[in-house]
Amino acid sequence: MPEQSAPWWRHAVIYQVYPRSWADSNGDGVGDLPGITSRLDHLVELGVDALWLSPFYPSPQADAGYDVSDYRGVDPIFGSLEDADKLLAAARERGLRVIVDLVPNHTSSEHPWFRAALAAGPGSPERARYIFRPEKPNNWKSTFGGPAWTQVADGEWYLHLFDAAQPDLNWDHPEVRAEFLDVLRFWLDRGVDGFRVDVAHGLIKQADLADWHYPAELLFAADADHPRPPMWDQDGVHEIYRDWRQVTDEYPGERVLVAEAWVEPAERLAAYVRPDEMHQAFNFEYLEASWSAGAQYSVITRSLAANAAVGAPTTWVLSNHDVVRHASRLGLPVGTPRPQGIGPDDPQPDAVLGLRRARAATLLMLALPGSAYLYQGEELGLPEDTAVPDEARQDPLFFRTGGESKGRDGCRVPVPWEADAPSYGFGPTDASWLPQPAIWAEYAVDRQRGVPGSTYELYRAALRLRAQHALGTGALGWETHTDDVLAFRNGDVYVLTNFGPDPAPVPAGLTVLLSSEPLTESGKVPQDVTVWAA
Ligand code: NOJ
Repeated sequence: MPEQSAPWWRHAVIYQVYPRSWADSNGDGVGDLPGITSRLDHLVELGVDALWLSPFYPSPQADAGYDVSDYRGVDPIFGSLEDADKLLAAARERGLRVIVDLVPNHTSSEHPWFRAALAAGPGSPERARYIFRPEKPNNWKSTFGGPAWTQVADGEWYLHLFDAAQPDLNWDHPEVRAEFLDVLRFWLDRGVDGFRVDVAHGLIKQADLADWHYPAELLFAADADHPRPPMWDQDGVHEIYRDWRQVTDEYPGERVLVAEAWVEPAERLAAYVRPDEMHQAFNFEYLEASWSAGAQYSVITRSLAANAAVGAPTTWVLSNHDVVRHASRLGLPVGTPRPQGIGPDDPQPDAVLGLRRARAATLLMLALPGSAYLYQGEELGLPEDTAVPDEARQDPLFFRTGGESKGRDGCRVPVPWEADAPSYGFGPTDASWLPQPAIWAEYAVDRQRGVPGSTYELYRAALRLRAQHALGTGALGWETHTDDVLAFRNGDVYVLTNFGPDPAPVPAGLTVLLSSEPLTESGKVPQDVTVWAA
């Protein structure tokens, strides 16, 4: 299918903006919507198709905005509804689509519904919109550490799969369902192109609220021998997304739903992107796969097959605001489980090796058919900030685990634009809600723009070639998969990643289009390098 005629989301490259850390227009140290609007040309220059904005709604910010107290507004720290409208218009003028975040699993404890539930007392209709019980019914733990149940003053307990300030909604309640249909319409009417759906696999809980046998990984493979945890990936969630799909389909222009669902195996995840459900689901199994030819081959093959079976594209991703940046993650020894943050006292990633592998991984990802998500700063090769002082940390994961998990602040540090400006150009002052390390200067956009071989120019070239060769709507045909080398064709482009120590040849007659690092003198592909040729 030629690129132009396929719906945009089947092949789009979508850039995640984390509003508090991208661009600060007023110098208060927190990024905001006017800041984002003022920097949109960066995304045009980079060559992405769309942006996804993490939450900017009114919120006490107990979990950086994933605790929403009003689904139809903008938190004053980020601006106003008018600023949101201006951002949407400015993006549209530039041909960029905009996806917003939707947080349906839980509200903030400051949401009017939860306040009303607390005020109204046990057995009230107000409590029925959440999951209250007279006794603590099970042993569930919060994803952020500690118990998933908190007791209120009158003795009842409420469920929160995340922070205590994020009470879970009761999705069996018709008012909850109606409310979110209305919220979808509110933003669709304002012109958004879609929604990234937070914790899409969590909305329905097993009816008996049965105990669960910990430890449980966030991403676990359920099969005949391993039952699904009672709080994740229950079959009932799919009915909700079928209802939502009917709403998005009423609007012109292919508005989309993308699932944040930490679900394995690939077949279970693909159920979220059946033709009458969501459009995309982040492939976290891919994000978590080891940097080895075998692991990459296996996850790519299984993901493509599972998605093809339901007629959906695969949605590739390597970094986001919840995980250690891939330029650092891949600098840990191969096979290290993904850490929940890295602190100064933890084993440190090899920065040079990490960036080298990250560039190779990105070129591999951007050559795959389907859609891909980029996380702000990865186009600069930005590493995880592993030196965030404990006093500066903000992530509830750090606090609820008593510091055992360092948390996600290290991937959320405001990004550098100009090496020699205050806050590296993040804002007009030195203020930054998380301290920026001195090494940020060397990653700044202005240090990389126009510099051959810089990570920024590598991303630009890759995105240009990806569009020119219609890789997003292409099809993958394997040429080689050994313990050391993966090679495939996508349309007229030949892609090779060398994981092994011996330099690998590019087939005769092909011209190299792009390479994540220089080739050897004899034109071979060294270890931890991806090459595109045609
Ligand atoms: C997933 C979001 O990406 C994460 O940042 C948040 O903490 C949880 N969901 C809870 O909303």
